Amino acid sequence: MNTIDWKNLSFSYMKTDYNVRCYYRDGKWGELEVSSSESIDIHIAATGLHYGQESFEGLKAFRGKDGKIRLFRVEENAKRMLNSADGILMAKVSEELFVEACIKAIKLNLRFVPPYESGAALYVRPLLFGSGPKIGVSPADEYLFMVFVMPVGPYFKEGFKPTNMMVSRDFDRAAPLGTGRYKVGGNYAASLQAGNLAHLKGYSAVLYLDSKEKKYIDECGPANFFGIKNNTYITPESDSILPSITNKCLSQLAQDMGLKTERRKVPFEELETFEEAGACGTAAVISPIGRIDDIDTGKSYEFSTDGKPGKISEKLYNRLRAIQYGDEPDPYGWVTIVE
Ligand code: PLP
Ligand code: COI
Repeated sequence: MNTIDWKNLSFSYMKTDYNVRCYYRDGKWGELEVSSSESIDIHIAATGLHYGQESFEGLKAFRGKDGKIRLFRVEENAKRMLNSADGILMAKVSEELFVEACIKAIKLNLRFVPPYESGAALYVRPLLFGSGPKIGVSPADEYLFMVFVMPVGPYFKEGFKPTNMMVSRDFDRAAPLGTGRYKVGGNYAASLQAGNLAHLKGYSAVLYLDSKEKKYIDECGPANFFGIKNNTYITPESDSILPSITNKCLSQLAQDMGLKTERRKVPFEELETFEEAGACGTAAVISPIGRIDDIDTGKSYEFSTDGKPGKISEKLYNRLRAIQYGDEPDPYGWVTIVE
């Protein structure tokens, strides 16, 4: 293995030693298999390829100062994948199988878990898709569940520095009664055009408005949105956004810090009143938002003019990271010690 520059990792694919796989055939899950191959053999008529019968998850493991490896909120990710499987009629991966597969994939790749000092993490990517053939639009009879891992740095290149986002009414990510609340590949395919435009224009992501009325804030590309004002943590309620586990943690931590928390519809014009704004997610952690440009009206909303995150965002970030790395106690049992 070439030596890894742990401190300068970006969020990109890296080959690691092993991944784990499990097939669902004849109505039941088989044994968890270990593979050192980066490839899979897929049926040409697999529903995952043709009809988007696919769901994935993303979670992280952290090496602490004490040398222990902590996996963050794995049960929540397992539950979300169960929900996604329900949403698009896939075979369900039990919580036990999900947790076992994640832990196994981490243990098989221990040398890729970044050192504590690097501030990086091991990203764990579970994947479930219809592997059985169907040419009519219907759910597959066979499924493949797999987990692979890789060391990663921040999702947005700015890391924990403010990043800029754009709003455009020309794109929808998910329909109000569609699949936005599930973590399925089709939502991400639907976001590529807008995301690409944002990158070309120099923005890190798109802040989506609700698809029906274009009145309320939905979420930011690959992360949820939160705003802070009047000592209150505010995050959108919407049927078409992914229920972010990070967001739930931040709401709890905000309450612990004495903030009020609100999960409700957030009108776009309310942006003007926020003192701080951010994107949150496993990959994004907290990405403070510096400015949001409405490219349809030319109006801008500024949250940071000095290139620094807001005070409350910073406190939330530090508290979350401290629990993830084991620097501070884990009062809610969010962490699973891998070893
Ligand atoms: N929203 C979308 C669309 C995402 O892809 C993610 C990433 O998983 C999130 C929000 C954040 O969710 P979580 O905090 O569970 O990673
Ligand atoms: C994550 O935060 O884990 C995600 O899955 C977002 C992603 C699309 C990279």
